[in-house]
Amino acid sequence: MIATANLLEMIEAELSALSLEKEPLQLYEPIRYILVAGGKRIRPVLTLMACNVFNEEVSAAVKPACALEVFHNFTLLHDDIMDNAPIRRNKPTVHTRWNNNVAILSGDAMCIKAYELLAQANENILPRLLRVFNQTALEVCEGQQYDMDFEATGRVSVEQYLQMIRLKTSVLLAACAKIGAIAGGANENDAEKMYNFGLNLGLAFQLQDDLLDVYGDVALFGKKIGNDIVANKKTFLLISALEQASGDVLNKLQFFLHTTGIDATEKIEAITHIYNQLGIRELTIAKIEAFNNTAVSALESLDVSAVRKQALFGLAAELLKRQY
Ligand code: IPE
Ligand code: IPE
Ligand code: MG
Ligand code: MG
Ligand code: MG
Repeated sequence: MIATANLLEMIEAELSALSLEKEPLQLYEPIRYILVAGGKRIRPVLTLMACNVFNEEVSAAVKPACALEVFHNFTLLHDDIMDNAPIRRNKPTVHTRWNNNVAILSGDAMCIKAYELLAQANENILPRLLRVFNQTALEVCEGQQYDMDFEATGRVSVEQYLQMIRLKTSVLLAACAKIGAIAGGANENDAEKMYNFGLNLGLAFQLQDDLLDVYGDVALFGKKIGNDIVANKKTFLLISALEQASGDVLNKLQFFLHTTGIDATEKIEAITHIYNQLGIRELTIAKIEAFNNTAVSALESLDVSAVRKQALFGLAAELLKRQY
């Protein structure tokens, strides 16, 4: 089993090798800015770990892993415009530091860079990788559209919410696990089990992101706390609160959701207070644990020795504790 630190080194080396020291500066500088600003690198690490389950060697998965990370970073540039987010990874977002047009175009270029990296995968597996990648990329767009549609939708069910986060977030983690597995030589059946592992890990991951958006420590989380509340995002927390609240509490919640022109800080405080009253934090944590358990079960169902799966069990356990 290759140590996580070594996997991270391979990823950083490959990302640094992207030729981004180019003109026009307004196109390439933001790409360096977002990629070098780091992030957890969960997706490429997951890809390489998934590969390592089936193969001692992970070199075949490094370019696909970086393709997935560059694609992820591309979605962040556009997502931050859509979500009107000022801060990411403790730095001003690209559209704030430069402007929307720069973030759109640098994002476009990153999407192309992602495909360029993927195209360098071994030609024996490239068609399979492309099928997974293309389907995933389109699903992420679908999820992002539902996410925005739901801002203006009064009632969104938990089921609709889960479908939305499956698309916007989970399928990408699922694709990482599956693409890594394919690069490692897994058969279709095992690759599908890995997909299922990544999908459930991804559902837990987005629920936790929703939770941290309210209860996170700003210095660790690196994003503005309460941004989802300000935007009326139909997160698991808000949907659960709308289901649980009644009487005065429900009226108050509806008031803060539907009254325009309220001070953002006041809105965040009021809605967070309602979440506290209703025990929404505990409810969300229970749901995160449930999806994490399902992910672990999917991994257990994979017919390879436990020692080969150790790193992925470790990753699932780590993600449960994450504060950033
Ligand atoms: C942020 O993803 C977008 C979500 C799907 C919640 P990450 O939390 O993985 O962001 P970085 O890459 O580590 O910054
Ligand atoms: C992330 O959802 C989904 C994608 C970027 C595709 P969020 O909007 O919750 O992610 P953050 O919180 O901005 O990182
Ligand atoms: Mg978003
Ligand atoms: Mg966002
Ligand atoms: Mg979020």
